Amino acid sequence: MYKRIKGTEDIFGDDIKYWYYIENVVKETVRLYGYSEIRTPIFEATELFIRSVGEETDIVQKEMYTFEDKGQRSITLRPEGTAPTIRAFIENSMMATGLPKRLFYIGPMFRYERPQKGRQRQFHQFGVELIGSPSPLADAEGIIVADRVLKNLGLLNYTIKINSIGCDKCRANYKNALKEYYSDKLDYVCDDCKRRYNTNVLRLLDCKVDVEYVKDAPKITDYLCDDCKHHYEETKRLLDNLKIKYVEDPLLVRGLDYYNGVVFEIHHGDLGAQSAVGGGGRYDKLIKELGGSQTPSLGFAMGIERLIIALKNEKIPVEDIKNNEIFVAHLGEQARIEALKIAEDLRDNGISVVFSTMERGLSAQLKHAARLKCKLCVIVGENELERNIVILRNMETGEQIEIERDYVVGTAKEWIEE
Ligand code: HAM
Repeated sequence: MYKRIKGTEDIFGDDIKYWYYIENVVKETVRLYGYSEIRTPIFEATELFIRSVGEETDIVQKEMYTFEDKGQRSITLRPEGTAPTIRAFIENSMMATGLPKRLFYIGPMFRYERPQKGRQRQFHQFGVELIGSPSPLADAEGIIVADRVLKNLGLLNYTIKINSIGCDKCRANYKNALKEYYSDKLDYVCDDCKRRYNTNVLRLLDCKVDVEYVKDAPKITDYLCDDCKHHYEETKRLLDNLKIKYVEDPLLVRGLDYYNGVVFEIHHGDLGAQSAVGGGGRYDKLIKELGGSQTPSLGFAMGIERLIIALKNEKIPVEDIKNNEIFVAHLGEQARIEALKIAEDLRDNGISVVFSTMERGLSAQLKHAARLKCKLCVIVGENELERNIVILRNMETGEQIEIERDYVVGTAKEWIEE
């Protein structure tokens, strides 16, 4: 027997309704803000992610699914959606249709991480990218959209954390301060931190091992230049005015290298170790880095599996998919021909019908209908048909009535809508 690959999941049955629910809420919410969908390939040239996500990040160092295809090209299954979206934006000359451009995506992503609850190797994100605006209005919009998605999903127990990691200018001063702070602690920090000290000192703040050092480290917000400070203040003012709740976290740095300025993460209280349901921020230099022209932009993404855990933990009711509303059972040669016609008539009226395709007796057919949780059963029998009659059975109460063939659809519709 073949088994699914570690860190992947089969999604089916009762869980599917959560996927439909999230996808529908996301699409409806981002529509309100003018975002249109983009679907990029699942795999891209490896170089795209090295250049964007960053050589020194965990994603590029340890987590990418990279392979050589039969044409000896290095290919990587996308670990995130921003780089592919920006690649597509540049390649398809989308700036020609005017900026800013608002795009969103939903789809699978791949990271070779240690699987645990809320962390898979194939997971799904939805994300939005607002491309082409340098204004704090855009930063605020990103956070407002994220907040509205969560609210529209019905979630309550989440916190939006925000910070500014500044521009190259202020970050250079901050990096020096961090280096100084860690210089006498280097013998005591983990191996990853020792390496990052030289390659990317900001990432020390993301260490899950040496947390006591992180706590007392210098704060980037004390090193912001006037422009970055003003941008950050203005973003917060816009959020305050809309009464959007957030907390400032001066140690929030994010795990991808393309960010500058305002960054944010959303954490859910019931998720335990993998508490981040989403994250994002501004990435003003990424488009130029990938070969386009200087285009200030920002975006965020949320993990769909984590949103589902949050929905379940908060016990948010999610409507069942209207499936298997009516079962059509039949007995006899002539009856099944007419029964198939009735099933199609019902479907013409938008009703979900399961037709009995097995040669079974009536009680076996009714048992199957009950197992599928059908509300109603239409029973077409040879004897009844001779009298131009079929039987309607309410599967919840067991009540059944005889009804003229021509009135089946109308009456069945009334019954299931009750
Ligand atoms: P990220 O923080 O790496 O950002 O991922 C966003 C969200 O994806 C996380 O908060 C988490 O909910 C989910 N996620 C990440 N890895 C896993 C995993 N292994 N299993 C389950 N869920 C996971 C980005 O990916 C950026 N591209 C966001 C962005 C868009 N920034 C600007 N635009």
